[in-house]
Amino acid sequence: LSYEHILVSQPKPNVTQITLNRPKALNALNSALFHELNDAAEKADEDEAIGAIVLTGSEKAFAAGADIKEMRDKTFQSAYKNNFLGHWTKLTTIRKPIIAAVSGHALGGGAELAMMCDIILAAPSANFGQPEINLGVIPGAGGTQRLTKALGKSLAMELVLTGRGLTAAEAASRGLVSRVVEGDVVAEAVKVAEKIASKGSIAVQAGKEAVNASFELNLAEGLRFERRMFQALFATKDQKEGMAAFAEKRKAQFTNE
Ligand code: HXC
Repeated sequence: LSYEHILVSQPKPNVTQITLNRPKALNALNSALFHELNDAAEKADEDEAIGAIVLTGSEKAFAAGADIKEMRDKTFQSAYKNNFLGHWTKLTTIRKPIIAAVSGHALGGGAELAMMCDIILAAPSANFGQPEINLGVIPGAGGTQRLTKALGKSLAMELVLTGRGLTAAEAASRGLVSRVVEGDVVAEAVKVAEKIASKGSIAVQAGKEAVNASFELNLAEGLRFERRMFQALFATKDQKEGMAAFAEKRKAQFTNE
């Protein structure tokens, strides 16, 4: 598959960067773009050399939402029959960590796409919002669910029902993003990705799976899942190496086994 709407690069030997690239439309998300994004993310997920993925847009926009011009003439019948948005959440099945580097607009489907990632770093210019209410619809890819889990009911409800956005500072203070990065947010995301990629990949994957389980499971089930995963990691060479390296006061050399 050759890509028309995204750019794929390898800023570090163990990091794949996917850049949304529809600058004239502020990276508005259409179906073709999502097929490409899913394909690129799956390839990175399958590539043994890659430890983490960075997803970003442009300075002006991470993504200004689903492509309104593509959506406007859809009918209920076609949306339902073709399961419109069904493949938009594919990203959440990728096992390697995905770090979103967000500058500018992250609106509607753009905010939802960022929330499908595992870590969000924001430039000071970032603004997050769910303006779908202004279009006569509601969020359709997590903006009422992941956003509510991130922000709590009152603020999520305000954003979804009024369409007002959040500044980067507000998003950071409420935990929607992990932090605001002054300077080059993409470079910082690559650094975080590279750091993650330097750890044992089995533990990284288990950590991602366990944190994500907290969104699906009740506390007792989640704690049990966590403990079982923790116990299972004692079967790995990386656990032996990590703990031996600590005791021997040297740097661990993980082999992802
Ligand atoms: C299609 C879009 C677009 C979008 C921007 N453009 N957002 N095209 N879909 N979501 C296009 C504009 O039409 C314009 O094209 C070009 O990008 C530049 O946009 P401007 O509006 O001229 O830029 P600016 O004045 O800087 O305003 C930026 C903006 C505004 C505030 C982000 O573009 C905006 O409000 N966009 C829509 C945001 C939105 O409602 N998003 C939610 C979409 S619904 P031309 O050809 O005129 O130059 C959604 C549903 C999710 O996401 C469902 C689940 C995924």
